[in-house]
Amino acid sequence: ALTLNIERDRFLKEQAMERLEKYRETTSQDPFRMQYHMIPPVGLLNDPNGFIYYKGEYHLFFQWNPFETKHGPKFWGHYSSTNLVDWQLQPIALAPSDWFDKNGCYSGSAVEHEGKLYLFYTGNVRDENGDRESYQCLAVSADGVHFEKKGPVISVPKGYTAHFRDPKVWKENNRWYMVIGAQTEEEQGCVVLYGSDDLEQWEFIGRLAGTSQSNEESFGYMWECPDLFSLGDKDVLLFSPQGIPADGYHYNNIYQSGYFVGKANLDKGTFEHQEFVELDQGFDFYAPQTTLDSGQRRLMFGWMGVPEENEAFHPTLEYEWIHAMTIPRELKLVDGCVYQSPVEELKQLRENAVEYKEVTIRNQFELDNVGKLAFELMVDILSNSSKQFTIWLGKYTRVIFNQAKNRLTFERKSIKTNEIEARHYKIEKIDKLHLFIDASSVEMFVNNGAKVFTSRIFEHPDNRKVTFEVSDAMTIDVFTWDLRG
Ligand code: FRU
Repeated sequence: ALTLNIERDRFLKEQAMERLEKYRETTSQDPFRMQYHMIPPVGLLNDPNGFIYYKGEYHLFFQWNPFETKHGPKFWGHYSSTNLVDWQLQPIALAPSDWFDKNGCYSGSAVEHEGKLYLFYTGNVRDENGDRESYQCLAVSADGVHFEKKGPVISVPKGYTAHFRDPKVWKENNRWYMVIGAQTEEEQGCVVLYGSDDLEQWEFIGRLAGTSQSNEESFGYMWECPDLFSLGDKDVLLFSPQGIPADGYHYNNIYQSGYFVGKANLDKGTFEHQEFVELDQGFDFYAPQTTLDSGQRRLMFGWMGVPEENEAFHPTLEYEWIHAMTIPRELKLVDGCVYQSPVEELKQLRENAVEYKEVTIRNQFELDNVGKLAFELMVDILSNSSKQFTIWLGKYTRVIFNQAKNRLTFERKSIKTNEIEARHYKIEKIDKLHLFIDASSVEMFVNNGAKVFTSRIFEHPDNRKVTFEVSDAMTIDVFTWDLRG
């Protein structure tokens, strides 16, 4: 039988809440505090977890270290919402209180079964020698707020290291399936597939993707946060590989997130697929997770951060918090690629709409109505004879399209080195740029979501304004909105 450490669980949750209260004032005073993005109430937030539409509400859990602005033994924090834009903090869902999760209730997912909410997560454990152990665990809730741990349901199988985590569960053809991010004993990254009839007994089906077993070339040493779902008439496997070297404009962050498009065979545990495609071209995007909502939309949140990158330099550390979620996005398959668009519901945040129709810019054009804190900016490019155009979003932040080089660039000032750093993407033509700006972030959707650049920026409020600059004439429609918090 499973013995739970109820006392320790209560103690950890109380300590976390005390810390939240203690720093409520401090975190609220940060000029870089996000207005409409989810952030940790205190401490560090990373991956989105357990994203689900359950009993009329959206639930989003998150990897949370309430005690420090660093990584550590993770809790599952919990937000809920009826409309995807206004989120309420709920009681802590999971604390790392038991022998099978004592060093962290790591990432996982949620499903509904017979009216109950089932959470699957990874119990991260360090043994006496400091070696890692990993358990895929279950916790169940009847009300979506209070969870009862049921303990481990899967241990690491033969042939794999303890880098075995982030279970994503779904139902298909009357059976439950789970994908897990894994590393083989040869230290190759991959995704494995399990099946179950009752959510408790799980059977290993196969290695779905990655490594020599399926004659695939090695692609990194570990794949984190897998997610498999159908989109359009294809299947998509999202995952976050580690150990991919930079290659031109690709794979420039320390770790990536991206996908394969193909066809999965769930009986055999195989996946025929195309090449890997990165999901984001910006500086801060990792570990996304999707869910299907009641309207059959495929929705996704990502973590607006990357492990180990710049984490010691965020100006928000001073205010006892770090990192944020992205805005919720809807995924669609267009010409075999995953397109992302901001969910419709985000329109509810709009205030003070302003339109500039058919503006021909010959030199500079400054928007005087937005630019400070939280706003949305939509630019339709009607004609462009400019070799290069720039949209300044601050003193050090800009978007540049170089038509001669077919290159779209996002630049910001590094918080680590104070130098300007850039991310690029090869693209022939820009028709539309759609930007969501918050107190310290930019999410830019290019050509209706064909590409996205997601980045944190830390521009002094006094330096924030939006200015267009062109080398020759460019004619655009511009729409702006303030976004409420
Ligand atoms: C990805 C990740 C997951 C892990 C979690 C721990 O960012 O490393 O693989 O479950 O974060 O917080």
